[in-house]
Parts: sequence; structure tokens; C-alpha cells
Amino acid sequence: MKMLNRVLCALALFAGLSAFVHAAPETIKFSHVVAENTPKGQMALKFRDLVAERIGDKYVVEVYPNSQLFGDGKEMEALLLGDVQFIAPSLSKFSKYTKQLQLYDLPFLFKDMEAVDRFQRSEAGQALLESVKGKGMVGLGYLHNGLKQLSANDPLRVPADADGKKFRIMSSDVLAAQFEAVEAVPLKKPFSEVFTLLQTRAIDGQENTWSNIYSKKFFEVQPYITESNHGVLDYMVTTSTEFWMQLPDEDREVLQTALAEAVAHGNKIANEKAMKDRQNIIDSGRSQIITLTDDQRQQWVEVMKPVWTEFQEQIGPELIEAAVASNQ
Ligand code: LMR
Repeated sequence: MKMLNRVLCALALFAGLSAFVHAAPETIKFSHVVAENTPKGQMALKFRDLVAERIGDKYVVEVYPNSQLFGDGKEMEALLLGDVQFIAPSLSKFSKYTKQLQLYDLPFLFKDMEAVDRFQRSEAGQALLESVKGKGMVGLGYLHNGLKQLSANDPLRVPADADGKKFRIMSSDVLAAQFEAVEAVPLKKPFSEVFTLLQTRAIDGQENTWSNIYSKKFFEVQPYITESNHGVLDYMVTTSTEFWMQLPDEDREVLQTALAEAVAHGNKIANEKAMKDRQNIIDSGRSQIITLTDDQRQQWVEVMKPVWTEFQEQIGPELIEAAVASNQ
């Protein structure tokens, strides 16, 4: 009997040890709402590959694109519940957690993506990554998509052309005010619903970047795209404090470096991708691109700019000043 006990103990110990030695890598889920052939899609895949290369025995990153796992209305909640470990929502989608990031939605704030980049690298820009800190989230870095364009069923040349038209927007009060300023009707809807809303003509238009308009085929159901460059669509790569802080320090460091490299990769290809997808849309012949004259553009600026005043207290006037300064 004693002998049998010893054998059983040895077997149990061996099973335990081999389970330890061959412990399956921990799964890290990265969920996002866009296609894989976008800056965000490519960044997430790069992160997956770098993690596999550097620390694949301990972690495996699973990427879920196209709102497959969670749509944009649910991904932050899912992050806080631990159902997903990384997300990269557009900066426009954080207003439930912080009002400061609304800065990025102010129309005609940045003159180009270089200015956006300068601001994000500045002290004020970096401090904004901390704005969700008390909410159980860690902002790990900014990722570019690009400047937004206006697409519609009818040509939009001057603000009066948008009068009474329904536009899908992200869940942002600033974006709602921007469309209300031109007497249009803004509707907050998840990204995954936009194509169908446009196709069925339940809405008249939307605003988005070249890569999203191309990869989600909005151009196939929107005969006109006004090259307005009126706002920015960028992301904050985000994890949860709970997940991030329970990681062993050395693993967190490896993951953080891999993520920084993946983000740098995404940022490097963002502009190129925007220009390529713009050209793809032109080549398709499905959508006409409208170039605004200086005077027409100025009309949009004048009508939309009062939105800044409406939100300056919530955002902080000094932050707006810092962002404006990055245009020089
Ligand atoms: C949108 O909802 O239009 C965008 O935020 C989608 C994205 O993540 O680029």
C-alpha cells in the first residue's frame, strides 16, 4: 500500500511538473473594428508577430478585426471586464471616460498630420495619454489613421449643401455639434453599421479617413467624397490597468517594447496607405472626389469653428492653445 502511495505521489508530481514545463502560453486578445489592410489592422498584426517572436512561449496574441469580437460600443466595457486585453479605439470614442480627448474632434484644429504628430509627441499630447488612468485603463500610445473626408449621396461643396442631411458620426458630442453647425442631422452609430446605413440610404453621408472609406467599401455606395481634411481620426492603444499591472515586470517590458514598435510601424504606413486608398477610390470610378476651392473651404471653417468655444471649458483652453501651436 505504501509502495502504491509512493508511486501515485511520484506520478502526480511528474504530471504537475510537466504541466508546469509545458504550460500553454497565455492568450492576449486584441480586438478592433476596422479591416486588416488599414494602419490599425497592420499594427495589431505586427504586435502579434513581435510577441510570438520574442516571448511566444509565454503569450500568444489573437487579433480580432472587423468588430468580430466586440463592436465599438462594447470594446471598452469588454476591456474593463477582462474579456479582451488590448483595444485601439478612435480618440473620439473615449468621452464617457474623459472629456479632454474631445480636443482631437475639434474641426479644423490641425493643418496636417505632421502637426498632429508634433502635438502628440509634445508634453501636453503625452499627458493626454494619462487622461484615462483613473478609469481602469492605460493609454499606451497614439496610432495614426489620418484626416477625415466627407462622403455623401450628393455633392458637398459649401456648408449649405449639408443642410438637413443625415450623417453617421462616432460617439462624440463634438462631432454632433460640428454637423449641427451646418444644420445637418448627426447620428451616433457603430462603425460596423455604416456600410448598410449608407447602402440602404437610411443616412445621407458620413465622415471618415481614406483607408476606412476604401477598406469598408463606403465609396461603392457614396457617389461623392469631399476632400475636406476637416478633422483627425487617430487612436489610443489601450489596455486595462488590471491586466497590465498583474504582468511580471520583465514581461510587461517586452510587451510594451513590442507594442511601441508595432505602433511605429502603423504610423509609418498610415500616410502612404491614405494616399494609396485615395487613389484606389479614384481608379474605381465609383465615387467622384470633390476638391474645395479656398473660398469654399473657408466657408466650412467659419461655420464649424464656433464649436471650439462650445467645448473649450470641458477640454481646457490651454490644451487647445497647445494643439494650435503645433501647426507652426
Ligand atoms: C469609426 O467609427 O468611424 C472609426 O473609429 C473606425 C476606426 O476605428 O477607425
